[in-house]
Amino acid sequence: MAEATFDVVVIGAGPAGYVCAIRCAQLGLRTACVDQRINNAGEPAPGGTCLNVGCIPSKALLDSSLHVEQLHQEFTKHGIFVDTVELDIPQMMERKDRIIAELTDGIGTLFKANGVTAIHGYGRLLPELRIEVTPVTGSHTPNIIDSRHVVIATGAEPMALPGLPFDGEHIIDSSAALSLLKVPEALGIIGAGVVGLELGSVWRRLGAKVTILEATKTLLPAADPQIAREAQRQFKKQNLNIHLDCRVTSATVKNNGCEVIYLQGEQEQKLTVDKLIVAIGRQPHTDGLLDPATGLTLDSHGFIEVDENCLTGEHNVWAIGDSVHGPMLAHKASEEGVAVAERIATGQGHIDRDVIPWIIYTDPEIAWVGLTELDLKQAQQPYSIGLFPFAATGRAKAQGKTEGFVKILSDNATDQILGIHMIGSHISELIGEAVLAMKSRITATDLSKTIHAHPTLSEAIHEAALSAHGRAIHITNR
Ligand code: FAD
Ligand code: NAI
Repeated sequence: MAEATFDVVVIGAGPAGYVCAIRCAQLGLRTACVDQRINNAGEPAPGGTCLNVGCIPSKALLDSSLHVEQLHQEFTKHGIFVDTVELDIPQMMERKDRIIAELTDGIGTLFKANGVTAIHGYGRLLPELRIEVTPVTGSHTPNIIDSRHVVIATGAEPMALPGLPFDGEHIIDSSAALSLLKVPEALGIIGAGVVGLELGSVWRRLGAKVTILEATKTLLPAADPQIAREAQRQFKKQNLNIHLDCRVTSATVKNNGCEVIYLQGEQEQKLTVDKLIVAIGRQPHTDGLLDPATGLTLDSHGFIEVDENCLTGEHNVWAIGDSVHGPMLAHKASEEGVAVAERIATGQGHIDRDVIPWIIYTDPEIAWVGLTELDLKQAQQPYSIGLFPFAATGRAKAQGKTEGFVKILSDNATDQILGIHMIGSHISELIGEAVLAMKSRITATDLSKTIHAHPTLSEAIHEAALSAHGRAIHITNR
């Protein structure tokens, strides 16, 4: 039999696919990466959701809008007075688009440097490890390539509400919500998950009156309940209006806006907005991807079924990232990409799924790794709590950002750290220490005996570890 053209073909160049392709090439495998995405200029735009319409653009706008908020609310406390504030939203968007372009170009450069063959087109998996690639621009004439291994990394896309399709104008998804050229006066969001809270924060800071309708009875049910309660308190203070226990019954586009009828508990309510963002989760992108003869199976939510090593039921076909089950996070996707590349090349590759961090980039930020207090109660596992408020750290005081706390949960018998939860400003940069502590399986005592620089926000982690044994210095221990 003739040798396959490639050792590995990766379909999708998001954080799962491009990282997998680069690692495969580093390991000496002849690798190609097929991606269909094009930017507004009609050029290939690798990087997936994350770089083009996800992590990076949302963080760029979160940063821009935080400057506006600080200018309005915090500068005067520092003795800084500004006469007039003008917002140029198109310029803000141009800045965001430049960041995206630099990063997506960077992936092209990394592919070249590592010897990954970038193929622009729509990939479709055929039986026997063949891939049909249809160009998305130009001729649309498909080409068939073959490979020893195929890695599917086709990601996910926003879900619409049943009977309420996105129209790109009034009822929009997260991608469109990252490119508005004007601040809506009234903005509705369905879903107070990660997208709802982050994009709700962006547009509220820029001047929109934001109302979020959430189906669950409590905010952020996956977070530690104490953290979620504090988050809810902080969002309320910011006038980010979150209505829980809501069920949308209809939404109608009228008068250049959208009228949403919903039940809150048993009460029918009406919300009239200029734009409605639907942010109720994402679904795997598998449209047109699988020739039925391949025999790959999807679970009831449409995810590609894989085993713990990301191997599908088909010989040498793997699937990673948002197209398979697990948290829809860029770092989880990339880690799966690396593990699969190493498994293909060496037969070994592992992911520690117990220590995947979550971060919500609101202000205050919310971050955690490991088990919550609710998880431990449900498992009837005896635990200790170490808690330390940022208000008691010198650095947070100096920054004027004293909201929030660090909470450490440790095993009563072994002292091993089981979960670290935080809410506060800039904590996205602190969670790495928490991940390392958990990955290293250290105890709260080990963490409490680790010297933390002064004055830093990380001292709150140190003090929370001390507090787990009633030894915190800068608060009164219980
Ligand atoms: P994707 O990034 O979706 O990439 C898949 C790529 O494959 C896409 O470019 C797609 O066009 C392409 N593709 C699909 N089908 C085919 C095909 N048949 N042929 C060729 N190409 C195909 N995660 C974080 O960790 N941190 C964050 O701060 C964060 N912020 C986010 C903000 C928003 C608004 C959104 C929507 C998501 C955010 N995420 C964040 C989630 C993160 O973007 C995803 O988890 C991540 O991008 C998943 O990576 P992936 O490679 O699996 O898929
Ligand atoms: P999500 O799953 O985080 O939140 C969706 C929310 O919508 C949930 O709270 C859910 O209860 C609610 N909901 C579902 N159906 C509803 C309905 N009919 N009416 C009202 N509420 C409803 O999904 P989201 O926010 O769309 O984000 C998708 C994924 O993208 C996230 O799960 C996350 O994995 C990823 N992401 C990660 C970010 C980060 O890491 N900072 C930022 C943004 C997205």
